[in-house]
Amino acid sequence: MKRILVAYATMAGSTADVARTVGEEISKGGVQVDVLPLTQVKDLKGYDGVVVGGPMIMGWHRAARRFLRKNRLAFQRLPLAVFVLAMSLTQTGETSVGGVPVTVDEKLPKPPQKAGSLSFRERYARLSSYLKPILSATRPARPVSIGVFGGRLEYGRLKWWAVLFAMFVIQAPAGERRNWEAIRSWAAGLPAALRLEETKVEEL
Ligand SMILES: Cc1cc2nc3c(=O)[nH]c(=O)nc-3n(C[C@H](O)[C@H](O)[C@H](O)COP(=O)(O)O)c2cc1C
Repeated sequence: MKRILVAYATMAGSTADVARTVGEEISKGGVQVDVLPLTQVKDLKGYDGVVVGGPMIMGWHRAARRFLRKNRLAFQRLPLAVFVLAMSLTQTGETSVGGVPVTVDEKLPKPPQKAGSLSFRERYARLSSYLKPILSATRPARPVSIGVFGGRLEYGRLKWWAVLFAMFVIQAPAGERRNWEAIRSWAAGLPAALRLEETKVEEL
């Protein structure tokens, strides 16, 4: 039986629920799935594919980026998919970044205030500016797929500096933006994207 690791970083817990949902969806295809916080991942031996998830926290969660960079050589032979939670995304119509197909929760992007002249915040919240640091962390390997979904922001769970950043820099209203349908639909496509349905020659 194929084995998949779904590993995640989180600040306030919402990414953990998404990771469990992604794991649940993948396991419907008869695949064994381990869902673990990145801090509990010892190594990648024995896995046939890896999914790494993390929220945007002033850039993609630092621990998730570090994990990708540390394992970039392994990802040259081990298929990798990535998911990102965010509360703010500028609508630009991008569907891939650096040649990697990107699935975006359609409820997340907001059109810029003035088409053709993006503000600093709108430029910061473009898909390409969120994802390029992720792609440079995995280089020369590339994820087979990236999913970008709405997250959850609850000021009561955060330290004061995090509240200030979220309110004034990303200007995201607090609330629940996780779209389970979009998350499940992306995750249902992962067994194929991670090539789990291909039979290894040695298994024949
Ligand atoms: C300090 C801080 C920084 C954030 N930075 C961004 C950001 O740059 N872009 C964005 O879209 N969302 C940003 N968010 C929203 C988070 O990505 C969102 O709330 C996510 O669901 C948090 O995941 P977690 O509950 O697993 O920590 C930020 C939230 C916090 C608290």
